[in-house]
Amino acid sequence: MNKTSQKQESITTRRDFIKTLWKIAGIAAIFEFTYVGFSIFNPRKKTQISETSLFNAGNIDSFKNGTLTQFRANKFFLYRHADGGFIAFSVKCTHLGCSINWVAERNQFICPCHSSHFDIMGNVLSSPAPRPLDSFPVIISNNNILINTAKSVKRSKFSTNQLTYAQ
Ligand code: FES
Repeated sequence: MNKTSQKQESITTRRDFIKTLWKIAGIAAIFEFTYVGFSIFNPRKKTQISETSLFNAGNIDSFKNGTLTQFRANKFFLYRHADGGFIAFSVKCTHLGCSINWVAERNQFICPCHSSHFDIMGNVLSSPAPRPLDSFPVIISNNNILINTAKSVKRSKFSTNQLTYAQ
């Protein structure tokens, strides 16, 4: 084999190698485009609630209309409105996060830290709390009241669309 044919063979080998690299890069690009396309058109549902964040407060019939029940260990109050709807309030004061108390004689939640007062729907009656008590989503499933304690919801004021009803 002479020098010219050796050089020719070396160039051919290098060309084959580069062609192979381009093929691999092309296949990788196809996979990536497919993956990105799939991710865009089939986003993961971020609204799914994990089973572990749902607290079962009990059967719907164990809560009378117009009653408030404390679940202090789980950091919420569950209120069943006079019309039968449910709402769960976080025990955290919206000022600096102290735990509020229900004072039945006054029909108010009162914060022991800086004395913010809230009505039974969590609306601010006296500052420094800047907004109503946060709520937790309530789900009613098989007549059980499930509270999603992983997700508190900020509210500007109470409205009846925040209540959850049995179907
Ligand atoms: S933390 Fe409740 S009033 Fe300040």
